[in-house]
Amino acid sequence: MTTTQTPAGHDERRDWQSRFGDAFMRSLATPKVMLERGEGCAVWDVDGKRYLDFLAGIAVNALGHAHPVLVEAIARQAGALVHVSNYFATEPQLALAERLLRISGAGDQGRVYFANSGAEANEAAFKLARLNRGDGRRTRILALQNSFHGRTMGALALTGKPALRGPFEPMVAGVEHIDTTLEALEAAMGDDVAALFVEPIKGEAGVLDLPVGFLERARELTREHGALLVLDEIQTGIGRTGSWFAFQQFDVVPDAITVAKGIAGGVPIGALVTFGAASDLFEAGQHGSTFGGNPLATAAADAVLGEIERAGLVEAAVVRGAQIRAAVEAMDSPLVAGVRGQGLLIGIGLTQPIAAEISARCLEAGLIVNAPNDSSIRLAPPLIVGDAEIAEFSALFSRVLKGLE
Ligand SMILES: Cc1ncc(COP(=O)(O)O)c(C=O)c1O
Repeated sequence: MTTTQTPAGHDERRDWQSRFGDAFMRSLATPKVMLERGEGCAVWDVDGKRYLDFLAGIAVNALGHAHPVLVEAIARQAGALVHVSNYFATEPQLALAERLLRISGAGDQGRVYFANSGAEANEAAFKLARLNRGDGRRTRILALQNSFHGRTMGALALTGKPALRGPFEPMVAGVEHIDTTLEALEAAMGDDVAALFVEPIKGEAGVLDLPVGFLERARELTREHGALLVLDEIQTGIGRTGSWFAFQQFDVVPDAITVAKGIAGGVPIGALVTFGAASDLFEAGQHGSTFGGNPLATAAADAVLGEIERAGLVEAAVVRGAQIRAAVEAMDSPLVAGVRGQGLLIGIGLTQPIAAEISARCLEAGLIVNAPNDSSIRLAPPLIVGDAEIAEFSALFSRVLKGLE
């Protein structure tokens, strides 16, 4: 370990930052703040400074921090069984799979596969798409420009951001990225398409809603041509947009959804859920994971989903999201071009490319938000967010905007 001697007053801070730089690959930028603990919608750094968390680990901490239901579920399961191999079943994994089939509407015809992250859930979906070969002619997979599906090689091949893919070429073959327009969709679709991957709202692109009618047309065309409609609900799922899954607000039933982030409130887990005939594509031995579906992660997820249901947090996301949206609009700032997204996945479009500056000033003021690109601020607070936190957010955020107007 290297330590850096620095002028008095900042020794400790310099020390952890230089340790970070010395220990981690440069793929991770050195953070500005080191966090120590959290409670509800707040976190505290190592110097005792409090931050209002309106990002929730990027749409992950659905129940906020240190929620007693999640703490208790993890502790209880850790004392029983943390891990067994896939040669054995456990009650938590069964209970979670059954709950996912119920809340997704996949029901008796649906099936679940457990992974450990969003990218891994999309890897499983990619393999599902490959299995939808038809008589061998379905060789193409369609995904959208500016989409994000993860950073492992299959998920990266699906991701519509050339800057992320470039250094890692060649990509896994067969993926084509199309514009997010009905025209591009109609032009690209054919009998040689195995699957179309879509985020119902593009989170990493700055919380961009799909054009009106896009998802419905995507369903019609994929059905017509025998292609799978795979919805990446990793950021939009688990109540965040005001329904368990964002697709439930459209007149559409997909062939598969991928889920991660909020499902276990921060314990790593991902899932692929199939609907109908797509459930029969995988055969024994074609996919698996050592950790996938382990009792610790599935017990945590089942507890989180149970609490979301018990506390009515899916419905609350609609109300709280509308409150936050109204608060931002009421700021009437010349820096705000518009508010996007659904429920508690909110994108604030800016009139100037100053998102990084806004995010840095918010952090300084004790508010965590995020800048997915130059001209967007993303908000994804815990689903438990209440009146007091929304009032605090409004005061802090409007002060930051005023300081930059
Ligand atoms: C829509 C979407 N898909 C996939 C991923 C990748 O998930 P993970 O980081 O858990 O691999 C993300 C993460 O931001 C995401 O937002």
